Amino acid sequence: MKNIKISPSMLSADFTRFGDELKLLTDAGADAIHWDVMDGSFVEAITFGAGLISACRKITNVRFDAHLMIDNPEKQIQNFANAGADLITVHAEATRHLHGVLSMIKNLGCMAGVALNPSTQIEQIEYVTDLIDSVTVMTVNPGKSGQKFIESQVVKIEKAKKLCGDDVEICVDGGMNFDTIKLCANAGATTFVSGSFLFKSQNYKDCIQRIRKNV
Ligand code: DX5
Ligand code: ZN
Repeated sequence: MKNIKISPSMLSADFTRFGDELKLLTDAGADAIHWDVMDGSFVEAITFGAGLISACRKITNVRFDAHLMIDNPEKQIQNFANAGADLITVHAEATRHLHGVLSMIKNLGCMAGVALNPSTQIEQIEYVTDLIDSVTVMTVNPGKSGQKFIESQVVKIEKAKKLCGDDVEICVDGGMNFDTIKLCANAGATTFVSGSFLFKSQNYKDCIQRIRKNV
């Protein structure tokens, strides 16, 4: 059994019951809560803003991860840090100043993460590894839940592990289920974002425990 982190994605939660869902996930042993922030520009959908995250911060002490699928993330970093995000992940494709944005996140006292779209080369992070706490290998195209896992990304997980070493979290986002989590864990991933698979299960606690036992 490997030591892994499970990060449920609130994109698949019941939007009429966020508070209840967060309490259930906390009791279920989630290691982090994943907020998919979308701006209608970098991706088509518009989802959560800093105000919602700030309000939900009062409900649980579990780590909050803000996955910013937004253009020019530098304009929003301060807001998400103020809202109580512990980890702020930006897309390498969404900024012309990745090093600068990551420095900004670190200077605000948050953990810094970079997400890479399926077509993005791992080399994008070669010169910023000293600034990052987490790399997210997107195993679907960003924008919605319930998509099919893109198998070609497993090699990227291996490359990320090799490049970043053991101190950086290697996170996988998209298309996770028992089988794909196991596959990615064997490739070196340590944190698993789960949307539709976890939220469709009858019992979050049971599902999270079964994921942990299965890797
Ligand atoms: C996709 C998001 C994911 C999404 C994952 O843009 O980044 O976090 O919620 O959903 P599933 O697990 O259903 O693929
Ligand atoms: Zn995400």
